[in-house]
Amino acid sequence: MTAPIKVTDKVYYLGVNDRRKHLFENMWPLPQGVAYNSYLIIDEKTALIDTVEFTAAADYRERIVALLNGRKLDYLVVNHMEPDHAGMLGALTAYYPGLKIVGNRKTFKILEGFFGITDNLVEVADGGALDLGYHKLQFVLTPWVHWPETMMTYDLTEQILFSADAFGSFGTLDGGIFDDEINFDFYESEMRRYYSNIVGKYSNMVQKALAKLKGTPVRIICATHGPVWRSEPSKVISLYDKWSRYEAEPGVVVAFASMYGHTEQMADYIARRLAEQGLREIRVFDVSKTHVSFLINEIWKYKGLILGSCAYNGGMHPMMDQLCSELLHVSIKHKELGIFGSFSWNGGGVKGLQAFADAVRLPLVAPSAEAQGKLTAEKAAAYDALAVVMANKILNH
Ligand code: FEO
Repeated sequence: MTAPIKVTDKVYYLGVNDRRKHLFENMWPLPQGVAYNSYLIIDEKTALIDTVEFTAAADYRERIVALLNGRKLDYLVVNHMEPDHAGMLGALTAYYPGLKIVGNRKTFKILEGFFGITDNLVEVADGGALDLGYHKLQFVLTPWVHWPETMMTYDLTEQILFSADAFGSFGTLDGGIFDDEINFDFYESEMRRYYSNIVGKYSNMVQKALAKLKGTPVRIICATHGPVWRSEPSKVISLYDKWSRYEAEPGVVVAFASMYGHTEQMADYIARRLAEQGLREIRVFDVSKTHVSFLINEIWKYKGLILGSCAYNGGMHPMMDQLCSELLHVSIKHKELGIFGSFSWNGGGVKGLQAFADAVRLPLVAPSAEAQGKLTAEKAAAYDALAVVMANKILNH
């Protein structure tokens, strides 16, 4: 049994927690789970805003039925077709014959592909409206935040923004649903991980969406993941603005791939030199140990990035290759970049890292540092120079 959770008098929170799924999109770890949020507006007409992942649905439909108390569901607004939100769409259309599905032209193409549904569609364009009685909904098309069909629904009456993935977060809602009921520190990091892993690639489109929303009074943000932002929605809007402008904090991530310890030794050496220069935010990671999801989150957070790899079959270590591939995929930008590595005979790690730097179009802050075998005082000059230049770049930015 779940007691009704009200966002406002006629708007209900209908989220579910998913603590079973290991990997979001079969890729991104969920050590603290994830919440799929859906919202029900009970007015002269009734409308559900998005649904939830099918596998996490449990008593989701029963909760809708109980809240509607004998009334039918008139509309299902589909802000986003990704199955973590559209997963229950087929089940609901079967349960509520005649249910009208509200979306845009691109929504309906995906809808047909996923569910074969082509009837009872209400197509809306950017700025389109839907009158529920007391609540007047307006639709804001926000393509690529996170899919091409993604839109937001704005309730003009109560100034509620149903924002789809935007402002969402990994992490289940453990009792606290609203931002004044949670510890924000945990969600800020999980929110940035969600942003950097899932949405960050489309940061320019996030900026366009924020520009579109500028001037719109927003009292409450109802995202499809994570907390409902009702006490200070401007705080998460500012975070999204910052992350989508690639504004980062003064610190350095040193990520290394090492087989026998030489490259790790170099990473620690560089980190120590950075600290001696006055840097206080230095995070060193073994890419073979820490999942790329968390690495991307930390890399998005900090201004400086130093990557180190041993040689592996004439190239960089495959785990560093994976990180570089993902960084290219999420279109990392505006980083101060340094590279280093070690080799046993012919090298290849630094050559691979240089190819990554070229591909991602980030100039190196200093010449790459590479040495055969372990780091010794005679070989240290290039590593010292890399650390000193990097620290200067970060501290004097
Ligand atoms: Fe939470 Fe793009 O789905």
